[in-house]
Amino acid sequence: MDDRTNSASLSSATLPTPATNGEQRDIIVVKDLWKTYDMGSEQQVSALRGISLNIRVNEYVAIMGPSGSGKSTFMNIIGCLDTPSKGEYWLNDHLVSQLDDDELARIRNKEIGFVFQTFNLLARASSLHNVELPLIYNGTPAAERTERAREALRAVNLEGRMNHKPNELSGGQRQRVAIARALINRPSIILADEPTGNLDSKTGLEIMALFDELHARGNTIVLVTHEPDIAEYAHRVVHIRDGEIASDEPSKRFRR
Ligand SMILES: Nc1ncnc2c1ncn2[C@@H]1O[C@H](COP(=O)(O)OP(=O)(O)OP(=O)(O)O)[C@@H](O)[C@H]1O
Ligand SMILES: [Mg+2]
Repeated sequence: MDDRTNSASLSSATLPTPATNGEQRDIIVVKDLWKTYDMGSEQQVSALRGISLNIRVNEYVAIMGPSGSGKSTFMNIIGCLDTPSKGEYWLNDHLVSQLDDDELARIRNKEIGFVFQTFNLLARASSLHNVELPLIYNGTPAAERTERAREALRAVNLEGRMNHKPNELSGGQRQRVAIARALINRPSIILADEPTGNLDSKTGLEIMALFDELHARGNTIVLVTHEPDIAEYAHRVVHIRDGEIASDEPSKRFRR
């Protein structure tokens, strides 16, 4: 039996990716981004304190920094899951704060695939159903949904686990289901908040090989990690400290 479900490399099956042609265009532009939480009795917490950053099409960026420094807050804003208190966010030349709900949903669906540390899969649903969920939200017909979800699972070598629920999968397999779900709408940007945080190091490396292939196929990747080894997969490493950018440099791998 050909069971390749333990191999994370992308199969030669067509994994949809955007056309880029080596563009030098900025796809993410943030200017003086602040996020401040009101904690009552005049107490405020500023998770982000004036972050400015440009990310070009097909860049591969790792975000590092101590716990509580604002990494997830930043990722949630650039993933349009949260809004800043102040500052501008331009996503693919659209000023996000000026989009209405429909436009925001459309651009988020089209441009962004989000991968979380805790996978965020529906516990009672099969791999296939988890992967096709984003297509249900945008009204894709059932037959096409199933076909595309199958294809996305094939691309992460999990076709053989299509009917398994999350608790019937290994951690690495769960994360691959989550990656297939993030890819189903053919986003140009993959945002991953500690995607290897809950995986052993070998499985973590397999997931990183998957990101390498996505990058090679033209995707823009922004990845949060605590692990220097993982950050070395990126071209550029941005350190955040206390809600501010502390450094922004090419990774060692690309300084050689
Ligand atoms: N909803 C909230 N209300 C108040 N404070 C918050 C809220 N969400 C986050 N914070 C605070 O904002 C700061 C940044 O949090 P964030 O989750 O972005 O950190 P992080 O860098 O992702 O940390 P970790 O590495 O532990 O995941 C923290 O001090 C946190 O306590
Ligand atoms: Mg975090």
